[in-house]
Amino acid sequence: MSSSERDQVFAEQKSAIADFKFGTEVATVFDDMLIRSVPFYAESQRMLGEIATDFAVPGTNVYDFGCSTGTTMLLLDQQLPPDVKFIGLDNSEAMLAKCEAKLKEQKFSRPYELRYADLNSGVAVENASVAMLILTLQFIRPLNRERLMREIYEGLNENGCLIMVEKVLGEDSMFNRMFIKYYYDFKRRNGYSETEIVQKREALENVLIPYRLEENRELLFRTGYRYVDTFFKWYNFCGIVAVK
Ligand SMILES: C[S@@+](CC[C@H](N)C(=O)[O-])C[C@H]1O[C@@H](n2cnc3c(N)ncnc32)[C@H](O)[C@@H]1O
Repeated sequence: MSSSERDQVFAEQKSAIADFKFGTEVATVFDDMLIRSVPFYAESQRMLGEIATDFAVPGTNVYDFGCSTGTTMLLLDQQLPPDVKFIGLDNSEAMLAKCEAKLKEQKFSRPYELRYADLNSGVAVENASVAMLILTLQFIRPLNRERLMREIYEGLNENGCLIMVEKVLGEDSMFNRMFIKYYYDFKRRNGYSETEIVQKREALENVLIPYRLEENRELLFRTGYRYVDTFFKWYNFCGIVAVK
């Protein structure tokens, strides 16, 4: 992961909280934000790397939907066969610019494309052996999730896999409250103040819409995947792998 400034986006008390945006301010500090806000981020990346290695097929494409600053692409670059092409998509120009700069800086040498794409309005996927939706489906409007999942599924080759990491709701409201409490404790341990926690929660309120793990599994089976399993779970975060 490249150097990133420390995340202080919500450190100052704001008079009004606007909806969270993946703009320049966030892109600049994003790598630090992920490490301090996503439990076991590095380990879940390592795990999805080993899963992707078992599914990536020479001559095919590996897609990273919501690629942000390219952390996953850079990690997988060290592990996948050289004749696999990487395609990163995002609807934040700031993220795509940061991603391009990181790939150049770290001398990314395999074929790749970075594409501006709004996953809410349809996406073209072809000849994919691996598709990744890492902490991204949660930002897609629920109304559009089924269609996006179908488009990804249609572009995946037979035996291809979809790897997802998502924030999820607890399976009932009691567990949900407990898991959220433990999650904010995790953020405190990582140096976020009460002001930062409260203001970010408010900014994400209508933007990040988590499903329950079970709802995500049902969505995957409904889409047509033959095998679905959970490879990671930490309170309200999970990793799921699905095979076509
Ligand atoms: C939490 S970040 C993903 C993190 C990244 N996958 C990783 O593991 O490093 C979510 C990303 O999804 C992108 N995103 C959100 N809504 C989107 C949409 N409608 N279309 C495309 N990308 C979107 C954001 O710009 C952001 O870069």
